[in-house]
Amino acid sequence: MDRIRIRGGNPLRGAIEVGGAKNAALPLMTASLLTDETLVLKNLPILADINTLCNLLLQHGVAIHLAGAGGNCAGRVIELTARNLTNTTAPYDLVRKMRASVLVLGPLVARCREARVSLPGGCAIGARPVDLHIKGLQAMGAEIELDRGYIVAKAPNGLKGAEFVFPKVSVGATENLLMAATLAKGETVLVNAAREPEVSDLAHCLVAMGADIQGIGSDTLRIRGVERLHGATHAVVPDRIETGTYAMAAAITGGELDIMNTRLELIQSLATTLQPAGVVFTEIENGVRVARANGELHGVDTMTEPFPGFPTDLQAQMMALMCTARGAAMITETIFENRFMHAPELMRMGARITVHGSSALVRGVERLTGAPVMATDLRASVSLVLAGLAAEGETTVNRVYHLDRGYERVEEKLAACGADIERIGGGGED
Ligand code: UD1
Repeated sequence: MDRIRIRGGNPLRGAIEVGGAKNAALPLMTASLLTDETLVLKNLPILADINTLCNLLLQHGVAIHLAGAGGNCAGRVIELTARNLTNTTAPYDLVRKMRASVLVLGPLVARCREARVSLPGGCAIGARPVDLHIKGLQAMGAEIELDRGYIVAKAPNGLKGAEFVFPKVSVGATENLLMAATLAKGETVLVNAAREPEVSDLAHCLVAMGADIQGIGSDTLRIRGVERLHGATHAVVPDRIETGTYAMAAAITGGELDIMNTRLELIQSLATTLQPAGVVFTEIENGVRVARANGELHGVDTMTEPFPGFPTDLQAQMMALMCTARGAAMITETIFENRFMHAPELMRMGARITVHGSSALVRGVERLTGAPVMATDLRASVSLVLAGLAAEGETTVNRVYHLDRGYERVEEKLAACGADIERIGGGGED
């Protein structure tokens, strides 16, 4: 199993290119199930999660062609053609690898009038149920039962438009219902819908495919169902979590990075939070410049919230950053329970953190020290990489496969900006 070894202390300088958003690419790929014509996605990130979804779509009968897989991110193109769907079952073996697989449920029921999708089960950052996906489809007329670990959904006469009020904001459930509603009879209104840029990106692609959607970017989506959707070409929105992660890499090392192929507006909540901490964000052509204002970093409080609030997917990185700030920082996680597993690992590197329920109090230390560490999820892993970049001495991050699910060539991108970082293949802890 690969590990990443870092010798900390180098301020990062240079330019880093961000890829298309993993969390937009996954639902966009499942949207291909809605039409028998070809959906072309550009700016595709090449990540383990994308491969997992390709395998799932292949076994549903989708023909996939990947072009330009090397070099420049913007050159990556995937063509997905779901001419004949041969199988409406999403098996446990594939779904358990990645929760986002549940996004095939809405499109399959809408187009094939039936689907059998394995329940994803628990995951490292909490229970993460899929009850809202199920309730929303039931409101649209699907008959759903749970059978031996599978969600079995049937809509023999097709789905019908309905009003569904989300009791809690859910990105995935909004995406599943949005896709299902495009082919339902009549109008669907999704109230308290997620407003994440990845949801809007999906909605824009669906419109390009012929869907009728009003209210994109707001918390109320109105979808008038159409008879059929057609093919389209769409570029995946830049990855705001990757953008924010590299912004914090610049801040934690006291360097300056030009983060390219992305937009400041996608990480506005991070910029607003970090400005009083002493980090400067400047819009540049086709990117964002991030630098420490005048040396010192100050502790600031953060609370995760649905978009446009501070993203939960940047919470672990924020904690790593605050470990090295002057003063205290309170970090409150409101989206997921059990999302502080990085705290004890950061403490092994000398951080002072007290976790109490959904809040963590971080008291900044003069310097973190390198140590062997590991994490159990993607964002926690990258937070340990950030800590390692700032720490004195050597840090080894184990279980790098988590990183590979969401960050493309992370060590190459950081090394090109002056980090002393390398991937070590095989051996070590798992
Ligand atoms: C997506 C992102 C993930 C991010 C999360 C929150 C993808 C592939 N993943 O995950 O990186 O951390 O949004 O921004 O886009 N919930 C329910 N019932 C449901 C669905 C969700 O109670 O049926 C709860 C969840 O347990 C969680 C909250 O709602 O507490 C938000 O989850 P949700 O927005 O659905 O996250 P995902 O779509 O799984």
